[in-house]
Amino acid sequence: MAAKKRKKIFICNECGHESLRWAGKCPSCGEWETLEEVELDDGKTPGKSSGDKDALPAKFVKIEDIKENEFKDRRISSKMGEVDRVLGGGLVPGEIVLISGEPGIGKSTLLLQVCLNLSQDDNVLYVSGEESVGQLSTRLNRVSKKKDLDDSNIMISDETDVDSIISLIEKEEPELVVIDSIQSVYTSDVSSFAGSISQVRECGMRLTNCAKKSRVPILLVGQVTKSGNVAGPKILEHVVDAVVYFEGDEFGMYRMLRGIKNRFGPTDEVGIFEMTSKGLIEVNDPTNVFCKDEESRESGVVLGAVFKGSRVLFVETQALTSYAAFGSPRRLATGLSKSRLDMLSAVLSRRAKIGLGEQDVFVNISGGMYIDDPTIDLAVCMAIASASKDVSLPADVVYVGEVGLSGNIREVPHMDKIRSAAKRRKLKIVSQPSGKDKSLKNLVKPLTK
Ligand code: TYD
Ligand code: MG
Repeated sequence: MAAKKRKKIFICNECGHESLRWAGKCPSCGEWETLEEVELDDGKTPGKSSGDKDALPAKFVKIEDIKENEFKDRRISSKMGEVDRVLGGGLVPGEIVLISGEPGIGKSTLLLQVCLNLSQDDNVLYVSGEESVGQLSTRLNRVSKKKDLDDSNIMISDETDVDSIISLIEKEEPELVVIDSIQSVYTSDVSSFAGSISQVRECGMRLTNCAKKSRVPILLVGQVTKSGNVAGPKILEHVVDAVVYFEGDEFGMYRMLRGIKNRFGPTDEVGIFEMTSKGLIEVNDPTNVFCKDEESRESGVVLGAVFKGSRVLFVETQALTSYAAFGSPRRLATGLSKSRLDMLSAVLSRRAKIGLGEQDVFVNISGGMYIDDPTIDLAVCMAIASASKDVSLPADVVYVGEVGLSGNIREVPHMDKIRSAAKRRKLKIVSQPSGKDKSLKNLVKPLTK
């Protein structure tokens, strides 16, 4: 019989788009020269081959035969409340979690601290293909107390061959494994270099199988480059059980762990940490972290609030408008999506008569927080209106509400929780203009006088 042809596909480095043909420009994200050839294994092309007629039937288990406790919620606590919160109460045996973030944000620091906590009672394995064993131990000394380090059972390895790592996991059966990072491991069965899409995909699959078989939880670090190349780790997002992003303002001291996908818990929780010279410290009450109490605020600066998971966070929303001297006006958003800012700017121009047609608009959510929640809409609109008219707004007011395309303001969920958090801080909530007219236009009217 003729040898089966290996199937080749092309995957975009930037967005992970798959295509059967090579193209100079990715049809999905529009980037140039980002399609990379990936070879699929024989016969593994789903839905295409007629299948092997001699294959043995797949194994199955009847639901009544599953031992009751086997899948009961046994959670492995990281002993860091903020990490457990994002994971939905801790790690589940056999769970595979992808932690993505830019270089230097603190992924290795966080995971070393988690390993250190768990290693007081159990064996943990930290595989670092990025740093040498010496570098890691220097860092461990920095983030830990001497006593904790003496009592710990951390196995550190700089192995990068994924099959050797899997053998080690099967032999030692540690309580937790960290692979730092998925881009640094490789398998010789795939010809491309470590970090390429095909290597990340294959190694990620093998480690996932290993976690499921051995019931050892594995944390994979995924590096996201500063230019925004996320496709490497991104193609693993549908394979792993949970995806969390570690992010924040690199120059600020706060870092956030944000759940994107979680098969064993909620995804709306955020864990908040402060980066210090002794590693990451958990911030247990983050209500005040992203805004300071002030007597007065400048024009363009207002308070907003969001409800994240189970907590209310107050955030300072800053805006600046300036005359667009060259070409079309720019809209620049830090901490919220650009399309949301475009939409809110258009609503302000058309529905609330705040002329932004020739103005550049910059909006920043302070503290490095990223908010994808429409709860912040009203605060963004008020900040832009206040900046545009150069009129400052009262410092003790929090603006909360979703703004629609028609310029109406809608109440958001969890208003009661936001209200009681504001009351504790002696802040007033504004979520609607007073009077009959409930539109944004009516709320910004005092600024336009
Ligand atoms: P790191 O964990 O190496 O980031 P990543 O693994 O995501 O690339 O973090 C590196 C940064 O953290 C670096 O800028 C220095 C800072 N840092 C501290 O401020 N305090 C510390 O105790 C440690 C270990 C790192
Ligand atoms: Mg690192």
